[in-house]
Amino acid sequence: MNLPDPYAVIGNPIAHSKSPQIHARFAEQTGHVISYERLLAPLDAFKRTVRDFIAAGGCGANVTVPFKLEALALADQLTPRAEAAGAVNTLKFTAQGILGDNTDGVGLVNDIVSHAGVKLEGRRILLLGAGGAARGVIYPLLAQQPAQIVIANRTLARAEELVSHFSQASGKLVAHELNDLPEAFDIVINATSASLSSELPACSPTIFAPHTFAYDMMYGAAPTVFMQFASQHGARVRDGLGMLVEQAAASFLLWRGVMPETASVYQMLREQL
Ligand code: ATR
Repeated sequence: MNLPDPYAVIGNPIAHSKSPQIHARFAEQTGHVISYERLLAPLDAFKRTVRDFIAAGGCGANVTVPFKLEALALADQLTPRAEAAGAVNTLKFTAQGILGDNTDGVGLVNDIVSHAGVKLEGRRILLLGAGGAARGVIYPLLAQQPAQIVIANRTLARAEELVSHFSQASGKLVAHELNDLPEAFDIVINATSASLSSELPACSPTIFAPHTFAYDMMYGAAPTVFMQFASQHGARVRDGLGMLVEQAAASFLLWRGVMPETASVYQMLREQL
């Protein structure tokens, strides 16, 4: 019998992570023999935790809060999307060293395009927030050839800084005040951390129209305050549970060379919320 290839998700805290359950399903479905555990890294010992895991035979790891920047620094090689995100959520350990990838953005895009059935090409997208979560999704969003992405943030300077990181996309990316957006968008993505504290980013309801698709990267048993606000103003809404599953699937693809089926895993997690 083959010994399982070890994988893990590393974070602090980590007990809440759904990743072991998701990857166990992917492995079962594809017939791959892997193990996948939660690893609590001490706040000052991310690097050591990764090194110990590699020494114990680890093949790859997901990285979550607060270590995505340390994972970026630790990687010997980065994928273009990890470099653009300025953060790493997936590590692959190879004979050549540590490869750092970021699957958050492609996870968002796959959920919107393949599962919600919303095309991004030629559309006007409003991205709310300019922190790590927003930066992580810009490169894969741009790859879908939208007409424009407006980045609106409470602190305008952070949105401007983010736009300047993506200078090759000049014209397609625009920074804007959060509370002064006059018109409706095709797609509105909430990448602020406001939903974590049940707050609503202070944007005007004029950003929504009946054709608007509004996405919150957060998820929960009940619609977030942002989703409630968007629905009240006519938009179609979706939460970030699908993004969670899709980013995991993209990590599995990087590690194992096969894209797992995600709809049943999404359904299972939805029922557990
Ligand atoms: P993350 O990695 O989750 O993106 P972050 O880098 O701390 O976390 O960024 C949080 C983002 O949410 C920022 O864009 C922040 O706006 P500011 O740059 O103005 O701080 C945004 N945010 C958090 N709470 C918010 C709120 N109540 N209303 C509007 N924006 C909020």
